[in-house]
Amino acid sequence: MTILVTGGAGYIGSHTCVELLNAGYDVVVVDNYYNSVPEVLNRVETITGKSLKKYECDIRNREGLEKIFAENKIDAVIHFAGLKAVGESSRLPLLYYENNISGSVVLFEVMEKFSCKKIVFSSSATVYGNNPIPYQETMTTGDVSNPYGRTKHFIEQILGDVYTADNEWSISLLRYFNPIGAHESGLIGEDPNGIPNNLMPYIARVAIGRLPQLTVFGGDYDTKDGTCIRDYIHVVDLAKAHLCAVDKVLNGTGIEAYNIGNGVGYSVLDIIHAFEKASGKKLNYVIGGRRAGDLPAFYADATKANTELGWKAEYGIDKMCEDTWNFQTKNPEGIK
Ligand code: NAD
Ligand code: UD1
Repeated sequence: MTILVTGGAGYIGSHTCVELLNAGYDVVVVDNYYNSVPEVLNRVETITGKSLKKYECDIRNREGLEKIFAENKIDAVIHFAGLKAVGESSRLPLLYYENNISGSVVLFEVMEKFSCKKIVFSSSATVYGNNPIPYQETMTTGDVSNPYGRTKHFIEQILGDVYTADNEWSISLLRYFNPIGAHESGLIGEDPNGIPNNLMPYIARVAIGRLPQLTVFGGDYDTKDGTCIRDYIHVVDLAKAHLCAVDKVLNGTGIEAYNIGNGVGYSVLDIIHAFEKASGKKLNYVIGGRRAGDLPAFYADATKANTELGWKAEYGIDKMCEDTWNFQTKNPEGIK
């Protein structure tokens, strides 16, 4: 079986390629390296001892995608390719709509042309907006406060319409909570360009000395210690969820959404303390003002992924922090 992985050189994509290769799938990656480097895929090959097929191509490039489908018999697609910086999406909404939505539509059209109707899509817990916690798949979605989140919601809706029009499609919408951590080899991990927006890469860069101080965004929320609560999930657990979802889409038809989280909420201070324990370093941080758009607390009810996909997260925050630190110390300047 051959799986096309869009955005396969990225953070979650690269870890998923490792799991796919280890499980015996043939893997074809398409990435334009907008937010990644080709070396990541060499490292995936080093970790697994197996090779994958790589195409440098933008998913908005219809001819390029058609060539990939013509040259390979693709059985299913895992679609990671997209832009993901929330703040940037508010400044550059058209870039996000163009890249994420137009890119997805071109991909779905090419899939249809080549009669490949099986897809796992990277969605986000952000589609739930302000709902009661824990989030469940049956809750209404779409009350989203930024263009990035809206692209995820719209693509979910588009795939819903695609399935309604043609019941031969088989679609899994994976709603990720907060992926952190790295492969335990330390060869691949999260390596954002510029100053990180997200908590864990920011912490790691403060700990390694590349950034002077972490600002905790808000210490006055109505939570156990005043800081925001999130559902952090080890990226390897998340990658394994894709294996379960691929198996599901290969063996049936339909469209389903799944929460992919631990089902446990940790505060920002919990993460800081776990990271200090894992790294043996005292982290320089201050409590600052709230970040616009942040919700006080959310976490997953991941029961559906367990019952229908047979998936469950295995790793806790200590392992997430240990693996992040291992990756950071082995790649202090990131992956070149
Ligand atoms: P990432 O930026 O590390 O990976 C995305 C990859 O897609 C990159 O390698 C990038 O170069 C590539 N890409 C982007 N636009 C492309 C295009 N037009 N054509 C070809 N390649 C393109 O991000 P990630 O953290 O691995 O996230 C993967 C997916 O999961 C994204 O769709 C993201 O929105 C979604 N997601 C991520 C998180 C998270 O916290 N990391 C949470 C929820 C959902
Ligand atoms: C963010 C996005 C979300 C996206 C997800 C994964 C926002 C508002 N939400 O989620 O749409 O799906 O990333 O890409 O950006 N924090 C600090 N200091 C920092 C950075 C973060 O205190 O320097 C706090 C945040 O306030 C939050 C927690 O750490 O409480 C996690 O933040 P982050 O990693 O950015 O993830 P989310 O905000 O949950």
